[in-house]
Amino acid sequence: MAVKESRAKKLVAGIKSLLKRTVKSGAAKTPKLALVEARKEGKKITPAMLEKSAKKHLWMHFTRHGSFANKEIPIMAKAEGHYVYDVHGKKYIDGLSGLFSVNAGHGRKRLADAASKQISELDFFPLWSYAHPPAIELAERLISYAPKNLSRVFFTTGGGEAVESAWKIAKQYFKMTGKPTKHKVISRHVAYHGTSQGALSITGIPAMKKMFEPLVPSTFRIPNTNWYRAPSSFKTEEEFGIWAANRAEEMILFEDPETVAAIFVEPIQNSGGCFTAHPAYFKRLREICDKYDILLVADETITGFGRSGAMFACERYGIEPDMMITAKGITSSYQPLGALLLTERLFEPFTTGTNILAHGYTFAAHPVACAVALENLDIFDEEDLVGNVAKNSALFKKTLEKLYDLPIVGNIRGDGYFFAIELVKDKKTKEPFTAPEREKLLRGYLAGKLLEEGLYCRADDRGDSVIQLAPPLTIGAKEFNEIEQILRKVLTPAMSKF
Ligand SMILES: Cc1ncc(COP(=O)(O)O)c(C=O)c1O
Repeated sequence: MAVKESRAKKLVAGIKSLLKRTVKSGAAKTPKLALVEARKEGKKITPAMLEKSAKKHLWMHFTRHGSFANKEIPIMAKAEGHYVYDVHGKKYIDGLSGLFSVNAGHGRKRLADAASKQISELDFFPLWSYAHPPAIELAERLISYAPKNLSRVFFTTGGGEAVESAWKIAKQYFKMTGKPTKHKVISRHVAYHGTSQGALSITGIPAMKKMFEPLVPSTFRIPNTNWYRAPSSFKTEEEFGIWAANRAEEMILFEDPETVAAIFVEPIQNSGGCFTAHPAYFKRLREICDKYDILLVADETITGFGRSGAMFACERYGIEPDMMITAKGITSSYQPLGALLLTERLFEPFTTGTNILAHGYTFAAHPVACAVALENLDIFDEEDLVGNVAKNSALFKKTLEKLYDLPIVGNIRGDGYFFAIELVKDKKTKEPFTAPEREKLLRGYLAGKLLEEGLYCRADDRGDSVIQLAPPLTIGAKEFNEIEQILRKVLTPAMSKF
């Protein structure tokens, strides 16, 4: 009897302790939600409340949350032209156009009006077996700027979805046209093409993929066109470009041409820091694709809509793609939208019988996004934003090149309004910083200091250490100087940080 009693006591104590722990861990308790309360009660939401709540509830993208243990998360609250303002009213030059994407600059009221007008006409309707006027008109408008063989548009809500769609379409196209084994994709070392499992598989940054392996199989990497670090045996960029393109042919032969569906390239590779390529590189890629019946996919997620100094970089470098991926600048990012442009050859098998591409997204070609894109393109035409970039790109580069007098600045490269400044330990030998040094330099110093001095841009080390600039296409000489001055102020003492 006594044994039974003591067992029962133990059981009760166990349950009590479990309940206590559950309550303590918060599982049974609703957390205090200050912003919800403030809104309900019509009270002002302060910056401090936002900072607290962001730390408590927000999961930011590509963010080391640990780095905010002892400091606040920067919160941007307002934007106008090429400036953004945080919740405390501090002003920053937007040296990255949001995320390489607010091409027409911030605060364009006519884009807000276009969105409002579209919402009151047709707020939403999907593109699944139905069409709507803004999508139809936008498709035609995109085609009017695109390489001449692209005449079909598949909308998405962003760049990664367009990458994903391009690969799926390539696979199905070959299945429907008697080459069912063609499915593999070739892409370039350090290239970023998105984060969904297919797009991430095409991405060439192992550190970004490791935690999500195994990814979609059948993607293969070839060298990119990093001319700064090309072996000295190459005397010209053209010669190096042809060598790099020939690596694609080599990979196709390694893998068997009958299994390779597509090659994905950015006209200017962002990750690694604005790797341009000689037009001969793209010409050679085209020849290789034609030879083995492989689709050439130009990922213009960043380079599209004026960033390179032409509406599309394909035009600037004479690239003739079978598919072209666009996003970001299509709406100057006022709305999420992506568009994959394709040749009619790729659409043709889908035109007959019961054939269907069983693929799509609820919000792709959202009417509001399409209406904003059309208005955004009107701004491009009326203000000749592309012409502004073409006219001023050389001056932008020249202004940045003043920084070459600093020992840490190894290379400045890019095109249009899209430049990278590679930072090196030794300018003569081009010795890069080691991983712990990069950590100290980029995260421990540059990222914070640039913001403190009023310049929002990117300090990145997905490849070697670079600072990346991609400002709105509206800026000119005055702003180039402002950017250079801030960079100078921040980079001058950078070496002494070790
Ligand atoms: C070249 C390229 N492709 C794809 C993507 C993915 O686009 P999103 O973030 O819109 O999915 C990006 C994003 O920066 C990109 O730069």
